[in-house]
Amino acid sequence: MSVLAIDAGTTGVTALLVARDGSVLARGYQEFQQHFPEPGRVEHQPEEIWQAALQACREALDRAEHADDAPTAVGITNQRETAVLWNRRTLSSPRRAIVWQDRRSADICTRLADDGHEPRIVELTGLRLDPYFTATKLAWLAEHDKSVWREVEAGRVALGTVDSYLVARLTAGRSHVTDASNASRTLLFDIVRGEWSAELCDLFGVPMDALPQVVASYGTVARTDPDVFLGLDLPVAGIAGDQQAALFGQACHAPGDVKCTYGTGSFVLINTGAEPVRSSAGLLTTVAWGAPDGTLTYALEGSIFVTGAAVQWLRDGLGIIGAAAETEPIARTVPDSGGVVFVPALTGLGAPDWDPTARGTILGITRGTTRAHLVRATLEAIAYEVRDVVDVMTTDASLGLPALKVDGGASENNLLCAMQANQLGVSVERPKVSETTALGAAFLAGLGTGVWSGTAEIAATWQLDARFTPGRRDDEAYARWRKAVERAKGWAD
Ligand code: G3P
Repeated sequence: MSVLAIDAGTTGVTALLVARDGSVLARGYQEFQQHFPEPGRVEHQPEEIWQAALQACREALDRAEHADDAPTAVGITNQRETAVLWNRRTLSSPRRAIVWQDRRSADICTRLADDGHEPRIVELTGLRLDPYFTATKLAWLAEHDKSVWREVEAGRVALGTVDSYLVARLTAGRSHVTDASNASRTLLFDIVRGEWSAELCDLFGVPMDALPQVVASYGTVARTDPDVFLGLDLPVAGIAGDQQAALFGQACHAPGDVKCTYGTGSFVLINTGAEPVRSSAGLLTTVAWGAPDGTLTYALEGSIFVTGAAVQWLRDGLGIIGAAAETEPIARTVPDSGGVVFVPALTGLGAPDWDPTARGTILGITRGTTRAHLVRATLEAIAYEVRDVVDVMTTDASLGLPALKVDGGASENNLLCAMQANQLGVSVERPKVSETTALGAAFLAGLGTGVWSGTAEIAATWQLDARFTPGRRDDEAYARWRKAVERAKGWAD
């Protein structure tokens, strides 16, 4: 018996078959294409996400060794905020999805801020007025893609995030749902009342009945259609945005528990329990998960847009590394970055600085600078960015951080984990299963179908792989980093 988790991330879809003891029985992965139609714009073809999901699941199922490894439930987790549209009848998308990284709605945000709407938006949603969030992208569509928007208003085209799109595809169009964690990232959801806000839908010009029904993050909400989903008739019993799923997968079930996931970007979340904690320093208040009885658990989040994507840029943009795994041995060939500081604000800056007009900046290059220095500066930048966020988080949540649980691709990098521990001055703990996002989706679906009886049983499966204890903290280097961040701001203004 297993639970099938589908993690539809920004660059690819992972499928895991997770056993009752929390071990991974089989895995599948399929990348899909990134579309960059103009600078600052990022799009995905929804059909490609669906095909990648099918392929990843097929692979995982084919690799399962025993017949009794077959899944009994499906959990979904996903890149958040991305705006997806599809025809309710044919399920085909009338246009490409606008991805969370896309900055095209910056002007709309400025206009709404100039008109004085920001404080109310922040109060209702816990978020900020930033192009990162779904509603700003939808408002852009309403202004610039009139023919598609007419279809939305006529009720023929549905709106949603990647989770709702995948559930629609898995159920052959029978379900149009999202969970509270995903809804809380749209800028249309009242996080205190736990429902879509008519006031915000009005402000952004989004017809409320084009939005999905908000359901709990665990518990059966739909069934897959075997005719479209690999012959499988399974309950869809867990849905959560990827960062919230990672929080759950890291067994951060109690208030005060913190995790950091290193992916395309990096996201630090602290569970704040039944109370939404408001940030005074650029963090987001968000829903961690919603229970079937309607109660919500909240989190405070520091969203860093570019970390793993900076390593990808070293590989694909500059061609100075062949694979992300090379960063550790290359960076270890030099004792430090030789004074080079890289601010990877490639798509602007997220938390805690929030500047959509910031751009990537490299300072301190000399004749002696080599690729090893730049690679090391990239890893240092990731550690600094996470420190920026953790520093304000511990203040906002009035918390002394005992340790940081890390996961995601770059958590495999021992040098980065050691740098992170040094920067934070606390231990960094890496679990045996670093794909905690997918694991979290599996746990939610398993919790929703009785595979696990409660969070204590889930937490018992968490196993430590490595602990990195802090060494010397270089505050001078950090001060240099902060100076460089200031230089990166406002560049594309
Ligand atoms: O908010 C964006 C986030 O959900 C994307 O996560 O893992 O695809 O970089 P990831």
